[in-house]
Amino acid sequence: MIKKISLTRYLVEQQRVDGHIPGDLRLLLEVVARSCKSISQAVNKGDLGGILGAADTENVQGEMQKQLDIIANEVLIEANEWGGHLAAMASEEMDSIYVVPNRYPQGEYLLMFDPLDGSSNIDVNVSIGTIFSVLKKPEGSPGVSEADFLQPGSQQVAAGYCVYGPQTTLVLTVGDGVAMFSLDREQGSFVLIKEHVEIPLDTKEFAINMSNMRHWDEPVKRYVDECLAGKEGPRGKDFNMRWVASMVADVHRILTRGGVFLYPWDKREPQKAGKLRLMYEANPMSWLVEQAGGAATNGQQRILDIKPTKLHERVSVILGSKNEVERITSYHGTL
Ligand code: AHG
Ligand code: MN
Ligand code: MN
Repeated sequence: MIKKISLTRYLVEQQRVDGHIPGDLRLLLEVVARSCKSISQAVNKGDLGGILGAADTENVQGEMQKQLDIIANEVLIEANEWGGHLAAMASEEMDSIYVVPNRYPQGEYLLMFDPLDGSSNIDVNVSIGTIFSVLKKPEGSPGVSEADFLQPGSQQVAAGYCVYGPQTTLVLTVGDGVAMFSLDREQGSFVLIKEHVEIPLDTKEFAINMSNMRHWDEPVKRYVDECLAGKEGPRGKDFNMRWVASMVADVHRILTRGGVFLYPWDKREPQKAGKLRLMYEANPMSWLVEQAGGAATNGQQRILDIKPTKLHERVSVILGSKNEVERITSYHGTL
């Protein structure tokens, strides 16, 4: 019989055998996984649970919220506020940080999340997800403030996402490679399906929203043009294109079989660095990709080296198979 390794056991062993994670971080990750399980249940019910459709409210980024954006946000807050492992949380769906209320003990970790990634796919039954990133509160700082969150992604102590697709799969790093766990609904637990995930260095698959082509900057245009030219072009091979419009699903494909994902800066709103958010989308995904042997850049610098200046900061994102990302970086003249 194949021995199944649960997420709990994996984390206990990370804590006990390798000393990679302290007990409080293990608790935090278990609680996040539990939250993802209940979000997965809500996603599964869909219309039957009456949770689809718009919420008629806007978030701080001016985006219309879906009911599920709000539900997923509440699930994560309620599950994480009382355990004593956190000092504060921050989310795409909340204007400012959520400090753990006084009635609960305060821990030393900071949790950030995109509770529901790929909101435009909720109502059409296409894969969506939850993305999370964990930092440690800087030592010696009294209380907790937004400034405590503004650490570069290289300071993350854990990061991951859960994709709600044909399977619900949780993907995690604590800085020792990437592991994947699928939800076994009969057992009610996440089970290890893959360890030491590796992204192939080369690829023939790219992901970008082509409808924005006319707004792109020259290096991105050049890269995509060369892919489209196929065998007859300078790359000498045919490329395939995929765009799910859920970053979790696109990154999951890249972690599984390679590829490159771009949501670059473009000329539509030149003052905006990009569409995706640094702290709870780009940073956790970039760390996962690097931990799997890939690379992640904004075209100018490694994403994990960017020092954030605000919670909801946006960033240009190019990540995936290393040789491909390096090629795009060289087109930006920064390699
Ligand atoms: P969110 O639903 O959390 O706002 O994120 C959506 C993001 C990301 O998941 C995806 O890659 C991208 O937006 C899709 O954007 P387009 O609709 O412009 O393709
Ligand atoms: Mn998102
Ligand atoms: Mn979201």
